[in-house]
Amino acid sequence: MSVDGAKAGHRGRLGLQQTAGLRRPHWRHIDTSKGGDSVIQFELNGETVTSESPDDTPLLWVIRDELKLKGTKFGCGIAQCGACTVHLNGEPIRSCSVPLVAATGTSITTIEGLDTPEGDALKAAWVEEQVPQCGYCQSGQIMTAANLLANNPSPSDEEITQAMTGNLCRCMSYVRIRKAIKSAANGGGA
Ligand code: FES
Ligand code: FES
Repeated sequence: MSVDGAKAGHRGRLGLQQTAGLRRPHWRHIDTSKGGDSVIQFELNGETVTSESPDDTPLLWVIRDELKLKGTKFGCGIAQCGACTVHLNGEPIRSCSVPLVAATGTSITTIEGLDTPEGDALKAAWVEEQVPQCGYCQSGQIMTAANLLANNPSPSDEEITQAMTGNLCRCMSYVRIRKAIKSAANGGGA
């Protein structure tokens, strides 16, 4: 199932407004009990955005197809692979399985907006270690790793493995992923 195909029933109008401005056990609980269909506003990579798509539209569809940020990937669509990982208020979520309404009033960060010290160190280490093969899973991997390092600047090998367990890579780049995370730990000074 492609994103475009799956989105066919979720057409909505989105307005962009400029403003001023895992560990696996840590997947955030999402409150889906909010409101009916309406204009939904949230922050995306520092910009305020609105969407009139139905409340139950997967957040990933809005990010990719409405906002045209293609760095976040569609893999399984059922919260099993981690390719769609973004941060919601700093915590990793699987955007394929989070309804748009759950983003109301929150701050969403995608790989395009990841400019934290941990993110910068990880991106540098990813290049240094030449981690990606096909690359498809890598933005999700980095988003999960960034949350790990934000909470644990110097993770052990076991903690890295535990945190990254939910992010799959069909190219089997796991050894390089773990090596890059280790390299990026403590701002790249590990
Ligand atoms: S596409 Fe979301 S977890 Fe696989
Ligand atoms: S690099 Fe190809 S799926 Fe991970």
